[in-house]
Amino acid sequence: MKLFLDTANVEEIKQATDWGVISGVTTNPSLAAKENEDFSKILPAICNLVDGPISAEVISMDYEGMVKEARELAGVHKNVAIKIPVMPEGLKAVKTLSAEGIRVNVTLVFSVNQALLAARAGAAFISPFLGRIDDIGQTGVALVRDIVDMIDLHELDAEVIAASIRHPEHVPGVALAGSHIATVPFKVLEQMFKHPLTDQGIEKFLEDWKKAQASN
Ligand code: G3P
Repeated sequence: MKLFLDTANVEEIKQATDWGVISGVTTNPSLAAKENEDFSKILPAICNLVDGPISAEVISMDYEGMVKEARELAGVHKNVAIKIPVMPEGLKAVKTLSAEGIRVNVTLVFSVNQALLAARAGAAFISPFLGRIDDIGQTGVALVRDIVDMIDLHELDAEVIAASIRHPEHVPGVALAGSHIATVPFKVLEQMFKHPLTDQGIEKFLEDWKKAQASN
């Protein structure tokens, strides 16, 4: 399972790429709105930092608007993938854009039916939002597993991006469910490093080393 970073914050992306674990980035209008800079400046900066799919979302709700916005965003860099919500106008745009070789990440997916429709329309990526499924009392990881199973069973081309990840335990959950990609907020990525036994182990190694140096 690849790890993408779910952020529009360039500093976070710089730090995560230095750690060598990030294969792509996903953004959305809410994440972009948190930044102080215009998204037209942020997107090329992200593309310069990460050599992998960078998802940028359209905000138009009609086919013509989505296709126009998508072509502009895709023109920024070859790695830009277009995020489009799963809805009839959106899937019509997915069909047009995928035929042009533009990769589309179908977003706001909450059911196997929506994932099947997205894959049939030609989506390169499908993003189930597991945290929001948990929010309504269902199990997000189970949805990811069902979508991955459906894609494998029918040999569809789309890759699943487990999105709306809220805590580090979601990550092994979706990895073991077979998700191709997990897109994680920076905070969750930091939390993935943490284990009290690692901290204790480092402390003990250093302490023993210092003791040995002092007695030599
Ligand atoms: O990748 C989608 C993600 O940004 C949504 O997360 O926490 O707003 O449900 P959240």
